[in-house]
Amino acid sequence: MLHIDIITAVPALLESPFAHSILKRAKDKNLLNVNIINLRDFGLGKHQQIDDYQYGGGAGMVMMCEPLSKCIESLKANIIYDEIIYMTPDGATYNQKTANTLSLKNNILIICGHYKGIDQRIRDMYVTMEISIGDYVLSGGELGAAILVDSIGRLIPGVLSDETSALTDSFQDNLLAPPVYTRPEEFNGLKVPEVLLNGHFKMIDEWRQDESFKRTQERRPDLLD
Ligand code: ADE
Repeated sequence: MLHIDIITAVPALLESPFAHSILKRAKDKNLLNVNIINLRDFGLGKHQQIDDYQYGGGAGMVMMCEPLSKCIESLKANIIYDEIIYMTPDGATYNQKTANTLSLKNNILIICGHYKGIDQRIRDMYVTMEISIGDYVLSGGELGAAILVDSIGRLIPGVLSDETSALTDSFQDNLLAPPVYTRPEEFNGLKVPEVLLNGHFKMIDEWRQDESFKRTQERRPDLLD
């Protein structure tokens, strides 16, 4: 069982992503448990303030230390986290290798930033991993956190019904996945490659490996380095 806590100032953004399809199945099978924590519940004063102007001036608010610290400490009182992850564009770029590693953990905490991000002291004190989902800026960490949970959740043993199917994904062996076809055999004059119809599993396997390699060479030669 992988337990993931997510701290967010906008819990509504994380309501739907885990309620369907494969992640729902993972939850129903008790293989994955995702718990959303509203940072606002730890806000200061009667307005439950969670952000403030940044020292030194400049546009954009910064998420304050106290609410985050109170929230993280309350969670840590009950759980020992393997990783405390902060979603940020200046983190290490996320990839399948990191997804594989994280899918083997037991307890993960993800912190979603908003506005200009969180006070650096929270990063210094608590965060063990900083992850970016790509070289572009989102308005908050929530969509990135959803991507993490989705990509990790489907790798937990027992989640995918066909145990081998995660192993044949793109990136699992640094290759892109080969093309796939289903019925009909001919569509608008376009035929399914003959080799896939002949029932020779060894030939099919070789064809898929060749296609994977060709596709990777054409589209992502960097993966072959
Ligand atoms: N928050 C804002 N931009 C982000 C990104 N690219 N990756 C992860 N978290 C983010």
